[in-house]
Amino acid sequence: MSENRSLLQLRGITKIFSKGTLDEVIALDNIKLDVNAEDYITIIGSNGAGKTTLLNVIAGVFPPERGGKVIVDGTDITGLSEYKHAAYVGRVYQDPHIGTAAKMTIEENLAMAILRGQPRGLSPATNKQRRELFSSALAPLRLGLEDRLNAQVGVLSSGQRQAVALVMATISKPALLLLDEHTANLDPRTAQIVLDLTEMIVQQEKMTTVMVTHNMELALRYGNRLLMMHEGRIVVDLNQEQRAGLTINDLITAFEQASGKKFDEDNILLTP
Ligand SMILES: Nc1ncnc2c1ncn2[C@@H]1O[C@H](COP(=O)(O)OP(=O)(O)OP(=O)(O)O)[C@@H](O)[C@H]1O
Ligand SMILES: [Mg+2]
Repeated sequence: MSENRSLLQLRGITKIFSKGTLDEVIALDNIKLDVNAEDYITIIGSNGAGKTTLLNVIAGVFPPERGGKVIVDGTDITGLSEYKHAAYVGRVYQDPHIGTAAKMTIEENLAMAILRGQPRGLSPATNKQRRELFSSALAPLRLGLEDRLNAQVGVLSSGQRQAVALVMATISKPALLLLDEHTANLDPRTAQIVLDLTEMIVQQEKMTTVMVTHNMELALRYGNRLLMMHEGRIVVDLNQEQRAGLTINDLITAFEQASGKKFDEDNILLTP
């Protein structure tokens, strides 16, 4: 259930790569977006639409072009370093290897996530308190990971590893959770487990969430608002009521009407 409190405001977000060269790409074209607290937004769009670039700007990987603003929970975080953004934004990537460090244990990975996500001094004081916090975050996943705090993350399956990445992204309770096709590299069964875990964490922690997916079916099934991106712009924006009962074909029609382009089936998966 979304509150009407604004949690994320994007204003005039433009990102141009290779500016002034023949390779110039306008990856984001003057995006304006307001996300309410506890919204769970799904974003779908073809390859190169700008989805990952949008998450990169929100996460502070690079700033938008001059004049653009990223405001999270009332704080303008536009100019802050990526490190400082981590106090506001947790993120899970498509590749489990990016979100977690293979040679470190589950405990060390989570400790790193806590340090990254919180201002100094707020992390648990003793090792015992820390382990208790990690166990209580991992136990609800029901994967037995709470008993394997000393296991190296590299020995875990991709699904377990993505589950650890989810806990890492959320353990310090950032205002915003960004998911970038975080189940795309998993087999269908494991993907479903990770999606269920995502749903559980998002609901328990009342996280405001933005999930990018290539999969129209997932985009319709999860969340309370659906965006479609095309050539750096948000071309379709459907709230819960507008989205209810829509089929994949309805989405394709909405996309074609909004973008003026024929839908390219190769680019967006219709089935899981
Ligand atoms: N670091 C970069 N340097 C140059 N061009 C980039 C960079 N990152 C993205 N782009 C370009 O910006 C555009 C948007 O890319 P982006 O990765 O955001 O798309 P996407 O919607 O996430 O696509 P996909 O579905 O394939 O993940 C693309 O044309 C891409 O080639
Ligand atoms: Mg992408």
